Amino acid sequence: MSTSNLVIALTKGRILEETLPLFAAAGIVPADDIAKSRKLLFDTNLEQVKLMVIRGSDVPTYVEFGSADLGVAGKDVILEYGSEGFYEPLDLQIAKCRLMTAEPKRRKPLQGRLRVATKFTHTAKRYFAEQGKQIELIKLNGALELAPSLGLADSIVDIVDTGKTLEANGLEPRELITTISSRIIVNKASMKIKNRAIREIVAKLRAAVEAAAA
Ligand code: PRP
Repeated sequence: MSTSNLVIALTKGRILEETLPLFAAAGIVPADDIAKSRKLLFDTNLEQVKLMVIRGSDVPTYVEFGSADLGVAGKDVILEYGSEGFYEPLDLQIAKCRLMTAEPKRRKPLQGRLRVATKFTHTAKRYFAEQGKQIELIKLNGALELAPSLGLADSIVDIVDTGKTLEANGLEPRELITTISSRIIVNKASMKIKNRAIREIVAKLRAAVEAAAA
């Protein structure tokens, strides 16, 4: 391992559960039990590597501005944030899900301008523009699945994994916007200055991803 200090920003929650085994397979293990700790910054078995554990939507910001050298972020978050500010060298093939439109079950297509509730407003705006559809976007930060039944929106754009959340709220998936998985992102300046250390880590993670797929 080369000697540059590296900070890696991890996404907490479901993505973290799949990230830690992959990192362990790549030889990076946090010094504390992340799940049981209230800390946000963790030492690892590697003296030069620290792990931050934060909200997914904040990972691109920490990486773009260089407070973290690398990050693990869902493609949904990357698409919404915009991918200009960092590199995206590796698909970790974890936390796979779909970004979809969803509507009340069996409802016939509506005419006119749809009201769409989502937290992915930039992505949804691009998607509907590509489809040539005029919509009105309503930004929500959670519990989107309630919006149609309460008359706030005609449809939603959200992450679908098992589909159980939609089902439990009387909705069904309609259009696939894109498939999602978690990616490694890298600060552009760090990639130059700490190139050797970052390439080593990305190579080890790539090998771990390939081993997991085999
Ligand atoms: C996502 C999404 C749905 C749910 C879908 O939320 O917003 O609510 O998962 O999963 P399912 O298809 O397996 O039911 P998540 O739990 O990631 O939390 P969030 O609302 O903070 O994004």
